[in-house]
Amino acid sequence: MRLPDGFVLRELDRVDSTNDEVRRMAEAGAEPGLVVLAGEQTGGRGRHGRAWASPPGNLYASVLLRIDGPLAASAQLSFVAGLALADALERHAPGDVQLRLKWPNDVLIGQAKVAGILLESAGQANGSGPRCVIVGTGVNIASYPEGTPYPATSLAAGGFAAITPRALLASYLGALDRWLAQWRDAGFAEVRAAWRARSTGLGEKIRLRLDREELYGRFVDVTPSGALLLDLDGGGRREIAAGDVFYG
Ligand code: BTN
Repeated sequence: MRLPDGFVLRELDRVDSTNDEVRRMAEAGAEPGLVVLAGEQTGGRGRHGRAWASPPGNLYASVLLRIDGPLAASAQLSFVAGLALADALERHAPGDVQLRLKWPNDVLIGQAKVAGILLESAGQANGSGPRCVIVGTGVNIASYPEGTPYPATSLAAGGFAAITPRALLASYLGALDRWLAQWRDAGFAEVRAAWRARSTGLGEKIRLRLDREELYGRFVDVTPSGALLLDLDGGGRREIAAGDVFYG
């Protein structure tokens, strides 16, 4: 399956983490557009320093993207990537399956997480060259881990027809290409509107787990910079840049 123009694929049977491999290659001078796809990871990483179970059969891929503009653009990219992934998965979904986004960019089937995205910054070792972001994406195609903080599922368990990681990656990069162009041409407002339309939990009571505290309140909205606006149960409003949302 052909990848969209501008992406250069490096496929590995096994690696510690595709994000780490992309970082090493970027430090050695690799250009934006590099994509690393691995059959399995021995040190897969999730957000907030968690491990990401990475047995064979699922998708583990990282893309090196150039980021122009202010630092806030990285936060916005997280929504662009989440939308692209949800769109790509929807192309392969059985008719009755609804894919939703959980802030900032987890993809859910029903109430369970099927995919996650880890954004990290990258650059050349000597600090020269463009500012780049690594978009690392994991999709539970064939299997999912038990006992995770948020319930997990897989495409197989969700009734999807079998798909190879490579074929899913091609769909994802196509959708990413389209959403990146949309973001560049029309700005973040359209991305945000599309994200809101696909999201779950807006307006609802949530629990938000941060690094050192838990907050309870109503999920009011996402801000133009991608933060979560929370009306606290005890009164007051907080704008949260990073955390884990739990519903119900
Ligand atoms: C999350 O916590 O939801 C983010 C999970 C991101 C996992 C992917 S798998 C490919 C890439 N390599 C990693 O080590 N992590 C990301």
